Amino acid sequence: MRSYQEFASLYDKLMDDYDYFMWSNYIIDLFNHYDLKPRDILEMACGTGNLTYHLANNRYNLVAFDLSSEMLAIAYEKLRKFKNVKLLNQNMVNFNINMNFDCVVSVCDSINYILNEEELLKCFENAYKHLRNNGVFIFDINTYYKLKNIIGNNTFIEDREDIFYTWQNYFDDDKELCEFYLTFFKRNEDGLYIRFDEKHIEKAYRSEYIIEILKKAGFNKVDIYNSFSIENANETSERINFVALK
Ligand SMILES: C[S@@+](CC[C@H](N)C(=O)[O-])C[C@H]1O[C@@H](n2cnc3c(N)ncnc32)[C@H](O)[C@@H]1O
Repeated sequence: MRSYQEFASLYDKLMDDYDYFMWSNYIIDLFNHYDLKPRDILEMACGTGNLTYHLANNRYNLVAFDLSSEMLAIAYEKLRKFKNVKLLNQNMVNFNINMNFDCVVSVCDSINYILNEEELLKCFENAYKHLRNNGVFIFDINTYYKLKNIIGNNTFIEDREDIFYTWQNYFDDDKELCEFYLTFFKRNEDGLYIRFDEKHIEKAYRSEYIIEILKKAGFNKVDIYNSFSIENANETSERINFVALK
């Protein structure tokens, strides 16, 4: 079962509690904190283009890509007014763009969708390769703690006016994978509901391990923060943000 197909049409509605304006300001605050002045940004796993939109509004030049053509179709509609955005259908593990960037960014736990260590290293090496000297790689993950203790082995239900959905999760301790079984009922104009299902899998990574792989990929300085802050992460942080400098 592939992910981010029909779900793409509901994604923005169901993510309405995520403030991407604030998220883009956080990224810009990080640029300022590190005294960086990027112009060209590569966004990996841009989804429906919500972060892309706010960064483009701040006049950065963006190349943004995602694996899901359904997510990209929505991003395309949202971003078509911007001359400074280019969208591509590529994979985080083996993308190849004939250009170098000042920043590579990826938000909202997209990196957890890389399910094994070999592919994680390939992704990081590729991010490194696409960066100019002194470039920065910024991304966040859902923490091991969150996937195992908060999301894993838990069921969530949401009942909205025209969408009802359940989210049943299983955490596999041996494989350190969190499986999400999503079932959606979406009301059509005729009042009838259509059902569809998706399975998503996120890998639980320990932050020390991510730092080790970033260094292996060539990054020489890596900092981690509790997301949306420049405070240190701790063992109950749910989302942490990595800043890796080339
Ligand atoms: C949780 S969504 C986040 C999307 C977007 N970054 C946001 O903040 O809304 C995860 C995204 O990762 C994308 N994705 C998963 N695996 C990928 C891969 N190997 N390469 C590129 N995109 C991928 C999915 O298609 C999806 O759009």
